[in-house]
Amino acid sequence: MIDNRGRVVALIPAAGMGTRLGEAVPKAFVEIDGVTLLELSADAARRSGVVDQIVVAAPTELIERAAALVPDAIVVPGGAERSDSVRAGLAAAPDAAFVLVHDAARALTPPELFASVVTALRDGARAVVPGLRVVDTLKRVDATGAVLGTADRDELRAVQTPQGFAADVLRQAHSGQGDATDDAGLVEAEGVAVTVVPGDAMAFKVTTPFDLRLARLLVADRQSS
Ligand code: C5P
Repeated sequence: MIDNRGRVVALIPAAGMGTRLGEAVPKAFVEIDGVTLLELSADAARRSGVVDQIVVAAPTELIERAAALVPDAIVVPGGAERSDSVRAGLAAAPDAAFVLVHDAARALTPPELFASVVTALRDGARAVVPGLRVVDTLKRVDATGAVLGTADRDELRAVQTPQGFAADVLRQAHSGQGDATDDAGLVEAEGVAVTVVPGDAMAFKVTTPFDLRLARLLVADRQSS
């Protein structure tokens, strides 16, 4: 889909090792019913209908495999930190007007979430993140575990991906060597307003063996219904 209001690039960092998952292959290459997390994530981006180009940052030794799994993507080698992988992907997308950074590990993200982030960008937001209300009470603690305070839950959101940005905003945020677990953190540090749109429980990140089990059960459930 070519849109003369500006090309949308979905940038998928998939170069992490995923050590917390404890699988033999890097996390994006772990399979659910024979399909890798990377393929599932790329498929959601594609099916959203709002993405013009997919860029994947893959582990150096798995570039060819990533290219075979996502044949319509530009595949680049990722870096040591997640932000290095995002910077590598950005360099491969010089003509993007908007960039959606989406963790390969959020493999069950509904296509509609990509669309709602792009809608907010097209409506003028410069930085958009999906966020969910927090269900647990969150406490600040010190190194010994002593409670320092209780956060006001109404003010908190658990932030997911795809995180969408006007491309120039994201490039500026990544022009240094800063690292952040989410790109919006770097953009905020630049003083750019970040907007939260409603997230989706299905956009959870596969991080632990529990998450992978949950993802496999959800896919099996989807297939049987
Ligand atoms: O490790 P974590 O779950 O926070 O990683 C989030 C996403 O960033 C994953 O999809 C992972 O593959 C990616 N990543 C990357 N390059 C790194 C580290 C993580 O592309 N060096």
